[in-house]
Amino acid sequence: MRLPWKIVRRLPDHHYVPRIYGRSAGKMRDIRHDERFMRAADPVVKGEPRRSLLYYDRLHTLYQAFENACRLSDVGPHMAEIGVFRGGGSAFLASLAVAFERPGATLVSLDTFEGHAGADLPTGREAVHVPGTFGDRTSYDDVRDYLSAYPFVNVVQGRVQDRTEAIGRNDYGLVHLDVDLYQPMRFGLDWFIQRMASGGTIVVDDHGFTTCPGVAQAVDEALSVATRPVAKFALLTGQCVLVVV
Ligand SMILES: C[S@@+](CC[C@H](N)C(=O)[O-])C[C@H]1O[C@@H](n2cnc3c(N)ncnc32)[C@H](O)[C@@H]1O
Repeated sequence: MRLPWKIVRRLPDHHYVPRIYGRSAGKMRDIRHDERFMRAADPVVKGEPRRSLLYYDRLHTLYQAFENACRLSDVGPHMAEIGVFRGGGSAFLASLAVAFERPGATLVSLDTFEGHAGADLPTGREAVHVPGTFGDRTSYDDVRDYLSAYPFVNVVQGRVQDRTEAIGRNDYGLVHLDVDLYQPMRFGLDWFIQRMASGGTIVVDDHGFTTCPGVAQAVDEALSVATRPVAKFALLTGQCVLVVV
């Protein structure tokens, strides 16, 4: 049975979890016991006003992708988040770079900051998404000020398809693609698969969500034409992790 969101959001300390984990679920380690993770995740999850749509589960995937990116080189990692909304996901990644004392880390945080663009919705709608979705309660100035504590973060406004000069490097260790729609997701995948450091990770949000059907389609198509080997893991969080070899 699926509980209504009105009830779920009042449950103490957890979201709705489907019964697919089996008997050993109770023995699993709780990611919230990892203090280093929690020091970065708690401000994003619990801060007022709430700055990210991501909860502990999906933040933990980004956390692991960050750790892996650090293993690729003593310098960096170079990161990008495409689809930033109110800036919480980018703040999480930036705070990890500080906590892990990573010299030379960089982060490009790119969004229209006006929500979905009409140009990305040629039929006017994709599932629940229409032009302007996520355009409320955010702006370029607000997010730039919010992230100004991190001088290595470059906040860029515009469609990812129109701001490629800001994401032209070819040694990304970690990219978070969180744009919901087919067109920018397909563009972002084609762009970044070619530009990842060997062993770098692309975390695709919303891949398993019925509300974002274009995301899985974009992943399938991009992988079918990719000129580099890519390992794909569709996670129970709804994210898809792509490790580019
Ligand atoms: C689900 S929100 C991102 C959530 C954010 N990562 C977080 O941590 O809360 C999706 C974002 O994708 C952005 N977006 C959609 N199409 C885009 C495009 N073509 N270029 C850049 N950003 C885009 C929207 O403006 C919206 O802010």
